[in-house]
Amino acid sequence: MSGDKIDVMVIGSGGREHAICWKLVQSPKLGKLYCAPGNGGTATLERTVNVDLKVSDFAGIAKFAKENSVGLIVIGPDNPLADGIVDYLQSQGLRVFGPTQQGAMLESSKAFAKEFMVKHKLPTARFLVAEDHQTALSLLKANPWIRVVKADGLALGKGVFVCDNDAEVEAALEIMFGERRFGDAAKQVVLEERLQGEEISLLFFCDGTHITAMPACQDHKRRFDGDRGPNTGGMGVYSPVPLYMNCATEIENEVIKPLRQVFADKAFDFKGVIYAGLLVVCEQNPDGSVAYKPNVLEFNARFGDPETQVIMPLLRSDLLQILWNCTDGTLSSTPVQWSTEAACCVVACADSYPESSSSGKAIVIGTSNNQSVSVFHAGTKLSDGKLVTAGGRVLAVTALAGTSEESVALAYESILKIKFEGMDYRKDIGRRKLAACR
Ligand code: AMP
Ligand code: GLY
Repeated sequence: MSGDKIDVMVIGSGGREHAICWKLVQSPKLGKLYCAPGNGGTATLERTVNVDLKVSDFAGIAKFAKENSVGLIVIGPDNPLADGIVDYLQSQGLRVFGPTQQGAMLESSKAFAKEFMVKHKLPTARFLVAEDHQTALSLLKANPWIRVVKADGLALGKGVFVCDNDAEVEAALEIMFGERRFGDAAKQVVLEERLQGEEISLLFFCDGTHITAMPACQDHKRRFDGDRGPNTGGMGVYSPVPLYMNCATEIENEVIKPLRQVFADKAFDFKGVIYAGLLVVCEQNPDGSVAYKPNVLEFNARFGDPETQVIMPLLRSDLLQILWNCTDGTLSSTPVQWSTEAACCVVACADSYPESSSSGKAIVIGTSNNQSVSVFHAGTKLSDGKLVTAGGRVLAVTALAGTSEESVALAYESILKIKFEGMDYRKDIGRRKLAACR
């Protein structure tokens, strides 16, 4: 990276992209920042300009980037990665942070990801792959441990069925192969054993040969308090995770070391963010102690949302330098420092989310002078200069504090300053988990 300032373009329009932009504008090396298409938060961020281009408009993005001398393009969402945006932009001579279409298969094909885990000895749930309805039913008959049915491809986070019995597995197979509700995303399905345990999101920067872990955090995927209701994109996150601190050694030995080796061996071409969705099984030993068994449930090939809304405020180092060095293969010599504070992020959504979204409702965000609180926009836009709702998850409030209890309390105190018609949020982000580990 030379001494010159770099103009950067971020692709996407969610809370994740606002958080990435918020961190990038703190870099002394940043020139101009473009966000395509962006949201109401990026529209009002200093030095940042929204560009009205769809994330699927690869040619438009390349044209804009070339005309505006963009030095680095950062890809947020999964779909353009799966569709090969990085390959296309690179073929146009542009520098991009994100994996190629082949690398993005870690997320866009669950069968590919499971085979990757087996090949590289990463612990994961037992599984089989079926390419048609009849084979899937025969496999279920012969393997009564099958309790989870997953569409192989991207299905907006809705393609996973966790079942209690054979009848539910059969119903899920009917949806995938009979109804074809997920179309070609369920051309093949992964049939898995069901694990019981706690989930942890563990993300890594990756430059192709080296990985650097970000702080572990825990998402709350279910819509309602007490982890009830339908799955969502994520209703809130907190970090640090007490469970992670209990089993950091097991995760280091069984997940991080083998993953590090994959890249040290140059066994997989990947530059970008690897997001490991872990499930830790806790078993009681005969002597009363607890054995922790981490499993990789899934990989994503991008930053998480809303994980990024806690990770960016915790990052002390220069994000632009880190992303640039990932594209350069020099991550191992790049400082990546983290705050030791606790963080909590609560998502404010439409009361109808995830069934439907909110549109055109005026948003009021009360002013706060607290430097430890950030409001990240997700489904918002500026309409005639006024901030209005434009999505299911609308905003996310992140608070940092010395202890987890304080960060949770501050996030909840701060969300009271936000108002829009039909606003809802979970009241138990971080709280149940903190109570449970006393
Ligand atoms: P995935 O997209 O593979 O992460 O699955 C979505 C959600 O389904 C996960 O976050 C888990 O809550 C649940 N899940 C997936 N696989 C399993 C499994 N093998 N056992 C139990 N729960 C699972
Ligand atoms: N928070 C879950 C995800 O980004 O996939």
